[in-house]
Amino acid sequence: MKVIVTESFAESCQLVAQEIIDVVNQNPAAKLGLATGGTAEQVYPHLVKAYQDGKVDFSGISTVNLDEYMGMSPEHPVSYRKCMDTWFFDQVNVDKSRTYVANGLNDPEAEIAAFNEKLYGDKMLDFQLLGVGVSGHIGFNEAGEYLTAGVHIEQLDESTIQANSRYFDSPDDVPRQSITMGVGDIMKAEKIVLIATGDSKVPVMKRLLADDRVSADLPVSVLKLHRDATIVIDRELYEKATR
Ligand code: F6R
Repeated sequence: MKVIVTESFAESCQLVAQEIIDVVNQNPAAKLGLATGGTAEQVYPHLVKAYQDGKVDFSGISTVNLDEYMGMSPEHPVSYRKCMDTWFFDQVNVDKSRTYVANGLNDPEAEIAAFNEKLYGDKMLDFQLLGVGVSGHIGFNEAGEYLTAGVHIEQLDESTIQANSRYFDSPDDVPRQSITMGVGDIMKAEKIVLIATGDSKVPVMKRLLADDRVSADLPVSVLKLHRDATIVIDRELYEKATR
């Protein structure tokens, strides 16, 4: 696992966007695994700008998103489908029929099957964008006794519910379950880039960077097992996490 330390979060976003642009420019039919969340959100404007400036063409790509809240309509203002449409898909020339964000209203078993078909029906992910939760989750793979390899329904951790309640009227409104790629699905991507920033991520980064251990209690630590995984963090977070 490689760690890149930038001078600012803005620089991190630019750098991560450039990684994605490079993947697409090298392979216009690239299959991208995408992420939502407040951190990843800041990467998309750079992709939109690069598209507007004629520096990248998204017409040949396909995408699969990491996760979605269960029980939430794709039309809900904070559904991950809505976020992706607003932040990225509706602003570039991607073919939306080749974008997949799980439908939280569907029957769970049927949606797991659809998710797997999108992930493995044609080819594997060339790239996966990640953020990390305060619980150490990637996708919605929460910390615990064990990790799940494949697509599954996950119970959200209390810390995740609290962290994500900023998007809802109250913590009670945050869905308790999500559908998510498993860690095995994420680890099958050819290249993985994780972006993190902010004081809330200091404890997780501290644990991640402290040693060479991999633990189900810190899901993000599995990235240490990947051939081409990079963590991009700004100096402020890096220094707080390593002091
Ligand atoms: C979102 C996702 C999550 C977020 C993580 C960080 O699709 O899979 O793992 O990346 O919860 O979220 P923020 O950036 O809001 O702290």
